[in-house]
Amino acid sequence: MSNKRVLLVLGGGIAAYKCLELIRRLKEHGIAVRCVPTAAARALVSPLALAAVSGEKVYDSLFSLTDEAEMGHIRLSREADLVVVAPATADLLAKMANGLADDLASTLLLATDKPVLVAPAMNPRMWAHPATRRNLERLAADGIAILGPAVGDTACGEVGAGRMVEPHELLAAILARLEPSSRPLEGVRALVTSGPTHEPIDPVRFIANRSSGRQGHAIAEALARAGATVTLVSGPVAIPDPPGVRTVKVETAREMAAACEAALPVDVAVCAAAVADWRPAEVPAAKIKKETGAAPPVLRLVENPDILAGLARHPTQRPRLVVGFAAETGALEAEARTKRAKKDCDWILANDVSRGAVFGADRNRILFLSGEGPAEPWPELSKEEVAARLVERIAAALGRGPS
Ligand SMILES: Cc1cc2nc3c(=O)[nH]c(=O)nc-3n(C[C@H](O)[C@H](O)[C@H](O)COP(=O)(O)O)c2cc1C
Repeated sequence: MSNKRVLLVLGGGIAAYKCLELIRRLKEHGIAVRCVPTAAARALVSPLALAAVSGEKVYDSLFSLTDEAEMGHIRLSREADLVVVAPATADLLAKMANGLADDLASTLLLATDKPVLVAPAMNPRMWAHPATRRNLERLAADGIAILGPAVGDTACGEVGAGRMVEPHELLAAILARLEPSSRPLEGVRALVTSGPTHEPIDPVRFIANRSSGRQGHAIAEALARAGATVTLVSGPVAIPDPPGVRTVKVETAREMAAACEAALPVDVAVCAAAVADWRPAEVPAAKIKKETGAAPPVLRLVENPDILAGLARHPTQRPRLVVGFAAETGALEAEARTKRAKKDCDWILANDVSRGAVFGADRNRILFLSGEGPAEPWPELSKEEVAARLVERIAAALGRGPS
């Protein structure tokens, strides 16, 4: 990668110090790094250290006559193969989402014609704030790749989502992006649903199912590795968020449907979540009490929105490719064909869950059904291999890979 260049925009977060390690590792791979720290970043990591580690001049002023003469902000933004924003502060993300350009960093982010990867880092409340959520949705829709943040202790002492991903994860994401042959889905926007939904009965009880989210999460990760900009809408799961993916966490089917709608437009949607078909019609505000001698309560159920059919029949923003999963316990192929026709989706990946070996397991055996030709039984594969195979098929269907 000796001819590759990264333009690294550093925002004013404590995690800026981690970028010294990132720059060192990028240089080990022969990648040249030019740094543009914001004014806040310069207060947290010294431009001298950035210049020493990168071996390049550090650019920090929009109005430096020398820089504009030698290397204007437009040229700076265009000469890189990839622009990386790390740490991406709440402020920088807000500026990017709104097209503000009042310093060198934000101006070149608006002027660039190159792919942009951001690694957010901030206090968990700042990350959870509706304003930040809105900004991230806009950035994802604009095709900006979002990596992290990780969950854990943050520098401010609070625990939650907000830590910048570690330098080795950023390095892997950057290397993958600089190696175009392995990224057939560059520029493709994908939506994946994963996990179960929880449908409340009362404030302490809920109806759920055995989905672990492992298959959906593996698909989201594989799509992101192939270059797609991925939104993962996940029900409650006990597995980590996949790297390189924007994960939206929901509980109920109705929240999942709303998060999917908010993620549109996308080119491809893969519905791997085990969405509850029904929810309790009434959810009391207080816990239902067990009274001695009283009859057990009766749960009346109402139907949940059909997310797969809703995407496949979307009146204005139907993804080019809509893929569903069918967990069946009966005649697999017949059920899968019926489901495909009933939901108007393009492909169905059916699996037999009657033997109880799919939910939560490592491996999966898929019957692949498209509109063309007979159903295709796949051999027993790990969930990661199923994901890789599906991503190949998606790339081929979108004209991005061998068909
Ligand atoms: C010690 C310190 C650490 C900070 N860490 C963060 C952070 O991790 N994320 C963040 O969004 N803001 C953080 N801030 C606040 C930003 O520096 C502030 O919003 C600033 O205006 C961001 O400017 P910039 O986006 O141009 O870099 C921190 C501030 C201080 C003083």
